Amino acid sequence: MPPALKALLAQLAGLAVAFGVGRSGVLPAGIWPLVAVQALAAAGAATLLKSARWWRWIHLGFTPLVAGALLLGIAPGWYLAAFVVFALIYWSSFRTQVPLFLSNPQVAEAVAGLLPRELPPRVIDLGSGTGSLLRPLARLRPDCRCEGVESAPAPYLLSRLLARRQPNIALARGDFWKIDWSDYDLVYAFLSPVPMPAVWRKACAELRPGAVLVSNSFPVEDVEPERIVTLDDRRGTRLYCYLPAGPKPLAKKGIGNR
Ligand SMILES: C[S@@+](CC[C@H](N)C(=O)[O-])C[C@H]1O[C@@H](n2cnc3c(N)ncnc32)[C@H](O)[C@@H]1O
Repeated sequence: MPPALKALLAQLAGLAVAFGVGRSGVLPAGIWPLVAVQALAAAGAATLLKSARWWRWIHLGFTPLVAGALLLGIAPGWYLAAFVVFALIYWSSFRTQVPLFLSNPQVAEAVAGLLPRELPPRVIDLGSGTGSLLRPLARLRPDCRCEGVESAPAPYLLSRLLARRQPNIALARGDFWKIDWSDYDLVYAFLSPVPMPAVWRKACAELRPGAVLVSNSFPVEDVEPERIVTLDDRRGTRLYCYLPAGPKPLAKKGIGNR
């Protein structure tokens, strides 16, 4: 069951329990006992539905925060505005389970080091966010064509704005599952554990021999990477490098040719 549906069911279960307990007359007067029962019941339902652990905390806090915010009397337009802003940034994260977080310049440097030297390479960033990988990468390798596909409108527009003076960057708004990956020498993914099995299947079906799949932080389960690059950054970032179609025959340099 998708996490968003589980969350909805947990909230509805919490409301049903709160309604039943409220009607039974055992609760003290006032809104807060009712809110507490709803929050506890929703968190309990999330546990029964085997939601990820952080969802229990979200359910515990959700109705108390809603009730508290209602008491503050904030004009409804602000809620709408906040919803629109978050929707434009996170777009389909509730479905894809891939939120927005950004690669740092050390990652771009390491990815640049993985590119073959003897030809102008083509790179695609799957879900390019604000372009925080592609912009430094395009500066480090001016011969490289750096492409990105991003589904969320706000990060995409920001990436277009920030990369407007970098001619070797091409950005598109869309869905990376719908494009062909076979033209790229390096496919970069900084997503989440959820899409990695499908990323691996598509990479195996479409990448050329020698083309590298680099996954920042999220390994492909049960597949041995060709190489793991561990960075000396704050997170100790690990880049998992795979050759889904094997090495390039008779090539000289770059990870794909080892
Ligand atoms: C963790 S962020 C990484 C951003 C960027 N690649 C970086 O390294 O800084 C993942 C991005 O992928 C986007 N995304 C998720 N699924 C997508 C899809 N199917 N097509 C295009 N973009 C997608 C999300 O909107 C999010 O901005």
